[in-house]
Formats: sequence, structure tokens, C-alpha cells
Amino acid sequence: MTRLKQQYEADGFFGIGILNSESEENIGTLWRSAHILGAAFIFTIDKRYKKQSTDVTRSWTKIPLYHYENFEEFIRALPYDTQLVGVEMGEASVAIDEFEHPPRGVYLLGCESIGLPMKAIKACHSLISLPGNFSLNVATAGSIVIYDRISKIKTRLPVRG
Ligand SMILES: C[S@@+](CC[C@H](N)C(=O)[O-])C[C@H]1O[C@@H](n2cnc3c(N)ncnc32)[C@H](O)[C@@H]1O
Repeated sequence: MTRLKQQYEADGFFGIGILNSESEENIGTLWRSAHILGAAFIFTIDKRYKKQSTDVTRSWTKIPLYHYENFEEFIRALPYDTQLVGVEMGEASVAIDEFEHPPRGVYLLGCESIGLPMKAIKACHSLISLPGNFSLNVATAGSIVIYDRISKIKTRLPVRG
């Protein structure tokens, strides 16, 4: 039997989320960017999502929103053959402009006050940093990462309707 190898214009997918975010407005803002810019799913770890005025597109009605009680549960649930990309400043991080995004990627951002804890950093397949000597707002950082990805990898964006 011959195997049918299907090829799509935009292969791959990505998801994005924040570990233990302290600001529900940031979560809503990131979800809005994620959905508009083609994320396949969004997630929270430790913090449940409550409806946010910043998420005017009601992104959770358009793409799946997963909630994980803790980091271990999140790691166990990572989709098959998908890379975890930590978004964090630091010496171990690759500058985003030099980064080649994986076809199937899950982007993990850290919380507003302390960023990603060491156990999360160690679990990532790769780490990326954005330009600048100061931390950006977490939702802004996530939106820039998504923009970088879709400028490098063809991504199907949702259409109005
Ligand atoms: C406000 S920052 C955390 C700052 C924290 N006070 C620290 O210094 O570790 C929240 C999250 O935004 C993301 N972030 C902000 N600026 C970034 C940058 N320049 N490069 C990569 N990630 C960044 C990271 O995911 C970070 O964990």
C-alpha cells in the first residue's frame, strides 16, 4: 500500500502561554494576539483564565484554551513531536532574529515578577530572547515572538466571518 503524503501550504502549528501569570489583562492581551496571528491553541499554567476586557475577540471561542494545574501536567500534555521554546532573557538564550522556529512549537512565557523558573528553563528545547536590555511586558513579548514566527514560517491566519 502506498502512503499518501499530504503537503499543506502552511504545515505545522504553534501554541503559546504564560506560566503563572499575575495579570489577567496580560493573559487577555496575549490571547487576542495569539488568535489573530494564527496560534492553534493557547494555555495557562497555574492560573485559570477569567474573562478579560482586553480579549475583545473572545479568543477562547475561536481556538482551544487549555489549562494545566502545574508545570508537570503541562509537560506531560505537550503534543507529540513538538518543541518547547522558552521565551526569556539570559545568556543561554538565542537572539530571536537568529532563531529558526520549529514547525511545531509551543512558546512558554514567564510571569511578570520573576520570569521563568529554572525548572521550566531546563525543560525547554530552546530559549529565545528579544532585543533590549530591559524586560518587556509579557504580552508584548509574546506578540513579538508570534510576529517573528509568522514572518519566517508561512502561517494560515483566521479570516473574518
Ligand atoms: C516582565 S518579564 C519578567 C521579568 C522579571 N522581572 C525578570 O527580570 O526575570 C515576563 C516575561 O516576559 C518575557 N520577556 C520579557 N522581556 C523579554 C525579553 N527581552 N526577551 C525574552 N523574553 C522576555 C519572558 O517570558 C518573561 O518571563
